[in-house]
Amino acid sequence: KSPVPKAKGVDNTMALINEGFEFLRTRRQQLESDIFETRLLGKKTVCMGGAEAAEIFYDEEKFYRKNAVPKVLKKSLLGNGVHGMDGSAHKHRKQMFLSMMTPERLEAMKDIALEELDAKAQGWEKQQEVVLFDEMLEVLARSGCRWAGVPLKEDEVKQRTEEMARMVDSFGGSLDRLKEGKQARESQEKWLKGIIKDARAGRIEAPPYTPLYIIANHRDQNGKLLDAQTAGVELNNTIRPLLATAYFLVFGAMAMHEHPETVGKLREDENDYSHKFAQETRRFYPFAPAMAARVKKNFTWSGYDFKKDMLVVLDFFGTNRHPDDWEAPDEFRPERFEDWNGSPFSFIPQGGGDHYMGHRCAGEWTTVMVMRAFFRYFVRHLTYTVPKQDLSYSLSRMPTLPNSGFKIRHVRRVKFDV
Ligand code: HEM
Repeated sequence: KSPVPKAKGVDNTMALINEGFEFLRTRRQQLESDIFETRLLGKKTVCMGGAEAAEIFYDEEKFYRKNAVPKVLKKSLLGNGVHGMDGSAHKHRKQMFLSMMTPERLEAMKDIALEELDAKAQGWEKQQEVVLFDEMLEVLARSGCRWAGVPLKEDEVKQRTEEMARMVDSFGGSLDRLKEGKQARESQEKWLKGIIKDARAGRIEAPPYTPLYIIANHRDQNGKLLDAQTAGVELNNTIRPLLATAYFLVFGAMAMHEHPETVGKLREDENDYSHKFAQETRRFYPFAPAMAARVKKNFTWSGYDFKKDMLVVLDFFGTNRHPDDWEAPDEFRPERFEDWNGSPFSFIPQGGGDHYMGHRCAGEWTTVMVMRAFFRYFVRHLTYTVPKQDLSYSLSRMPTLPNSGFKIRHVRRVKFDV
């Protein structure tokens, strides 16, 4: 008999929606087990968390991704691309993404994003108050398109930014939010499909190192070009997720405000402090709650019999705060990354395991690089005040954000001598 506990309740879908980020962690704490069984969307589901569970979850001999994520999420957030692929076809496609992430191209991303940020900040000087979250979304949408080689006309910026933001914002939402995400996705895919066709026909010229060129000319394992629809989805997968960084940027700015001792350290940036600050921001603040996969073949782990095709969910948020790996996990302490062991399984804000072999986020380096660069820019090249506002954030909404979006006032661009 399996010793693994079952969560109370016939089906816990509503509890998950209501409790959000804390649902999995709270159940594991209550049941005193890193693995438990429940029903989600009417299906038996095994939920697990912690580094050991993550190591199992990212073992490709044990799990596959096809039809793991609910259809509504595929229609709103992810689309039909790399996320749901398995085996050698996945590795081949993943390689396409990783070929975009050379050191030169990461530097280019940083330079483009800083240039867009600085241009935007010029405008802030003329405004009494700005909402940082909204500003970051636009800066990142502009940066992502430029980096990807996707032309974005000035009169399209607002629409395309809103659409990408809506997709990212849809994932843990009500049916209305998911529907909005789906509409946004359909509009984006149509646009990017057209861009792919234009690039293939030579109507748009994209340099060979850009995602647009790489995807438009990518051949699958059978030597065939991707169909334009799939190519559009994958092009979207190189731009849209950059907007997720806006959540971490706002949380980071809030962390600076709530922990003022970090500001001077960030300004000096001794021993790569900004890196530790960015890592702690990704660990501490919630963004991606969990991921789903299916069992590839029967196996037993932690006293539980995993059966072929069973649905399994890995708790990202709870793993990043697991007391076995993190001291005082509910405290924001960038210094903890000074002697962190670098495990690919205990710190998984963008998935775990290996970037090449598994599903770990292809944009993790970009994310960290942009975060560091922006945090340094905020403390070295800007002064601003933070008015009284509602900075609380709900752990039951997914994704989540400080309620005010983080307002800043009286912005001035300055140059600090460091
Ligand atoms: C996959 C999070 C930024 C491209 C993922 C996954 C997560 C994630 C949770 C799924 C991991 C899994 O399936 O096990 C994030 C977060 C970001 C971010 C939180 C920023 C705050 C980016 C950026 C890019 C990107 C900037 C591209 C430029 C991808 C791709 C995958 C992926 C292509 C699919 C990988 C695969 O299935 O093999 N990301 N991501 N992401 N991400 Fe990101």
